[in-house]
Amino acid sequence: MFEEISTFSFPTRIHFGCGAVKQLAAYLKETGVHKPLVVTDPGLRATPVLNSVVSVLKEAQIPHEVFPDVHGNPIEEDVLGAAALYRLAGCDGAIGLGGGSSLDVSKAAVVMARYDGALIELEWQAGGTEKMVGPYDPIIAIPTTAGTGSEVGRSSVITSHKLGRKIIIFSPWLMPKRAILDPELTVGLPPFLTAATGMDAFTHCLESLTCPVFHPICDAIAIHGLELVIRYLERATRNGQDLEARGYMQVAASMGAIAFQKDLGATHSLAHPLSTEFGLNHGLANALCLPAVMRFNLEAAAPHYARLAALFGVTARPMTEREAASRAVQEVESMLDRLGITRGLRHHGVPRESLGPLSPKAFEDSCHKTNIRPCTQDDLMRLYEESW
Ligand SMILES: [Fe+2]
Repeated sequence: MFEEISTFSFPTRIHFGCGAVKQLAAYLKETGVHKPLVVTDPGLRATPVLNSVVSVLKEAQIPHEVFPDVHGNPIEEDVLGAAALYRLAGCDGAIGLGGGSSLDVSKAAVVMARYDGALIELEWQAGGTEKMVGPYDPIIAIPTTAGTGSEVGRSSVITSHKLGRKIIIFSPWLMPKRAILDPELTVGLPPFLTAATGMDAFTHCLESLTCPVFHPICDAIAIHGLELVIRYLERATRNGQDLEARGYMQVAASMGAIAFQKDLGATHSLAHPLSTEFGLNHGLANALCLPAVMRFNLEAAAPHYARLAALFGVTARPMTEREAASRAVQEVESMLDRLGITRGLRHHGVPRESLGPLSPKAFEDSCHKTNIRPCTQDDLMRLYEESW
């Protein structure tokens, strides 16, 4: 028992609350950043969100640069462009502002600003973690969605067109020094993106809870994260101005990413190629594949799913654990319906004949290696078909 040594750490300092972004200048000072690069996406450029950050910097007379070109599913060129501007402008820290894409690019850019090789050399699967020798300049993450939890995560997911897939860069050095969770920054997020990104947080919590890595602290965080998503995601989706729901969803998203330092599962392996090949929003791709993966895992994950059923308010007493686990799958499907997410990959521009070529890509993705039930490439193909 307990022969293996486990390491538990939760190092990112989180500042949570309405107006937290106004303290940005103080947080930069505390982390020793004098000239930050703000990394964001074109969608935010036209909104008051970017302006709220830039005006804090201007008011505090902090010189800065803005890289506003991050793609919805970030690509290698985003990282290289941001890193080039970072070096050129002599920046000494990055502010990731936006959804997971901007945050992930800000993390990778800080590393690439100092790395002479190619980004793909840093891929986790290719032994890239050892090539990142920090400490790197500080990263301050300001999420404007509530889903990826990248603000507290130690990975960055970037699409490499050279490899034709997403690569995962993973290192404790990628963890932001600070995360600013300001619920007011998420009120402008439209209902579809609120629901989709929220389902990413839900999937993080559930896949990390079920993945067979010993981390009871993350398990507890995952369970409460699931509870928060069940309680608040529909509210935040129906009424974007509901600051209580927005705030708890931001917290749930961070909890999901803290929990998945354990690891993830097959849903994420299925989801990644759907984004690379068909541009599906990452949270949506997870939401569409999750019920099939839950059915696949039902036997192995029954105790966890029975617990999930209880969080949905299903009373397990007159049921067997297996029956309660099945009810959890139905509850997830009903939640997707209530969120307005149309189930079925067929309804989201994924042709049936693409499932064959997608499955080797899903198998190549490392997330399924920690799925509670081991899966083959054929299993992943069947899961795509079931999700179609
Ligand atoms: Fe995710």
